[in-house]
Amino acid sequence: MSDNSCKFVSVLVTSCKGGVGKSTVTANLALALARRGKHVLAVDCDFSNRTLDLLFGCEDAVLYDLCDVIAGRAAVADALLADPRAEGLHLLPAPFLGEDEPSALLDDAFTARFGEVLREAAEATGADFILIDTPGSAEALLTLAAQSADMALIVTGHHPAAIRGAEKTGLLLDSRGVPGQKLVLNRFDIDAVMDGRRPGINAIIDMTRTAILGVIPEDRGLELGQEAGKLYTESAAKNTARAIDNLAARLCGESVPLFAGLRRLRRRRLVER
Ligand SMILES: Nc1ncnc2c1ncn2[C@@H]1O[C@H](COP(=O)(O)OP(=O)(O)OP(=O)(O)O)[C@@H](O)[C@H]1O
Ligand SMILES: [Mg+2]
Repeated sequence: MSDNSCKFVSVLVTSCKGGVGKSTVTANLALALARRGKHVLAVDCDFSNRTLDLLFGCEDAVLYDLCDVIAGRAAVADALLADPRAEGLHLLPAPFLGEDEPSALLDDAFTARFGEVLREAAEATGADFILIDTPGSAEALLTLAAQSADMALIVTGHHPAAIRGAEKTGLLLDSRGVPGQKLVLNRFDIDAVMDGRRPGINAIIDMTRTAILGVIPEDRGLELGQEAGKLYTESAAKNTARAIDNLAARLCGESVPLFAGLRRLRRRRLVER
C-alpha cells in the first residue's frame, strides 16, 4: 500500500467471526500507537454496523463518511475526525447502510477509489499506521479492505467458535494475498485456562497456525467504558492497559515479551497448555 511519497503501514484488523473484539482492538490500539507518538488513522470499514465513532465517543461529530468521499460528495478533510485524546489520531467513519447495500456499492470504480481515498487520508493526516476495522462476515467488504492491507491482525477469543473463525480468516486472507498475518488473542480468561476450560496460547497458535502479536485480558471495565465512548486509558484495568501498550510496541517493531508487565499471569503454565 505504501509508496515512496507516503510511507505508512496499513493494518487490517479482522476476523470472519462476529463479536470477537475487532472494533475494540482497532480503537484502543489506534490510541496506544498515537500515545507512542505515531500518527494513526483508524478507518471504519463496517458499512452496515459502523461502530468506531461510538467507541471514540464522537458519533455526534460525524458529518461525512468514507463513502461520501469515495462518491465525491465530500473532500477527505471534511470526513476526518481528530481525536482529542492524542495528537495525530484520526478517524475516518463508515457510512450507515442497510445490510444488503454494501455489496451493491462495490463495483470496480468504488474499489479503485477506495484505495486512493485511503492514501489521500493517510497523506492528509501524515499517518504512520492505518488501522482498518472490518465487519464480522461480509466477505465483499473484507476483500475490499484486504486489497489495501500490508498486514493483518486476526482477532480471536479462546472459545472454539472464535478459534475456528480465526483459522478460516487466515485461509481467506491467504487467498486474497494478505501478508504478515498475526493473532491478537482478546478476552483472555486466565482462570478458564488454568482450570482447563479454554486452550492456552500454544494450543491456539497450533490450531490457527498463526504467530501471536498480543494478548488482551477479559476486562469488564473496558467493555463498560466503551458504552460511554471511553478508550482504554480512561476505562481499563492496569493489566489490560499494559497489554494494549505492549501490542502497540510490538507493532512498532519492539521486542516485548508476551506478558511483559502483566501481573498475576502465571506465564509458563499458561503458555504451555
Ligand atoms: N477484552 C475485552 N474484555 C471485555 N469485553 C470486551 C473485550 N473486547 C471486546 N469486548 C466486548 O465485546 C463486545 C464485542 O466487541 P467488538 O464490537 O469490538 O467486536 P467486533 O468483533 O468488532 O464485533 P462485530 O463483528 O459485530 O463488528 C463489545 O461489547 C465489547 O465491549
Ligand atoms: Mg466491529
